[in-house]
Amino acid sequence: MLSIQQTTFNGIDDLNLTQINKPVLTKNGVLIKMDLAPITPTDIKREINPNATTESFAELPRTIGFSGVGTVIEVGYNRDQSLLDQRVFIMQPTGSYSDYVLSENSDWLFPLPDNVDNASATTLTATPLVLLNSIKKYQNAGITDFILTGANSVIGQYLLQLIDPNENIHIYPIVSSASKDYFSQQFPNLQSYTTDTLPSFNNAAILDIAGSTALISRLVSKISSPVLTSIALMSYEDNIPFQFVHEEFDRDVYQNLIQKLADRQLFAPIDRIFSATQIKDAQHYTQENHSRGRVLVSFN
Ligand SMILES: NC(=O)c1ccc[n+]([C@@H]2O[C@H](COP(=O)([O-])OP(=O)(O)OC[C@H]3O[C@@H](n4cnc5c(N)ncnc54)[C@H](OP(=O)(O)O)[C@@H]3O)[C@@H](O)[C@H]2O)c1
Repeated sequence: MLSIQQTTFNGIDDLNLTQINKPVLTKNGVLIKMDLAPITPTDIKREINPNATTESFAELPRTIGFSGVGTVIEVGYNRDQSLLDQRVFIMQPTGSYSDYVLSENSDWLFPLPDNVDNASATTLTATPLVLLNSIKKYQNAGITDFILTGANSVIGQYLLQLIDPNENIHIYPIVSSASKDYFSQQFPNLQSYTTDTLPSFNNAAILDIAGSTALISRLVSKISSPVLTSIALMSYEDNIPFQFVHEEFDRDVYQNLIQKLADRQLFAPIDRIFSATQIKDAQHYTQENHSRGRVLVSFN
């Protein structure tokens, strides 16, 4: 079967499309024929830096990818037999970019309701929960103004959809001029800002998804007492209160997001779908273009 493997830290062009044996079903396993897997900026960072994330991905070769969607084709003796033929979203930290994946952790497998399509579910690879938690923490400290960088990113769009409109929270989405029209199309009722159009603040929290220190320092200059939370930068040089936050897997959060997709309370931002054999083109496309939704890779 096809598997996409990282064998060096030289980046996208060193990825290997290789044939390996199909996994053998175990008593605790579920064999899945993969359909779609997402490309995230984190995937691309891991291909050049063994310390790109707090998890260790230094051991090579490894099958790339962290999650995906497919259909269960075989069920091990100890697993729920009703999973057979079900479409499922899986977290698979040992690699999801293969024709077939053996999923052995039942916490990391989510059967999909009929009205959640595979592509939408595949976008759920990372959630904005850590940023929602940061908002709560800052609210408790009396902050009501939040400046969101990378607002048109996939995580940014999920965050904006999940913020309760009845809360006393003012979000200022920061969007580059190249992404302004896309953002207005996705959120016709939200005004976006650039560093030039953003007003000044006494207290405000910057929620950073974009990971640009140049952008952050321009935003900091507009706030008398800034605080900063980033999901993209692990450190920040300037002398302001800063925290890097990292998502901890929580099954209930994913279950809840899938339900919200089913109930049409959330829409999934999706860009293009590439064939798995075009993985290098797909990752270059992701890296070299502005974010227009999640780029997906198909194993069919
Ligand atoms: N800590 C965690 O737990 C965690 C979990 C998942 C992801 N992440 C990180 O979160 C970030 C966003 O992920 P995503 O999947 O939502 O990414 P995405 O959809 O590709 O979006 C990236 C965003 O960053 C903006 N951006 C990139 N470089 C920029 C720059 N130099 N100046 C201004 N804006 C810039 C992009 O703006 P344009 O589209 O206009 O270019 C876009 O809004 C990534 O860095 C990822 O590694 C962290």
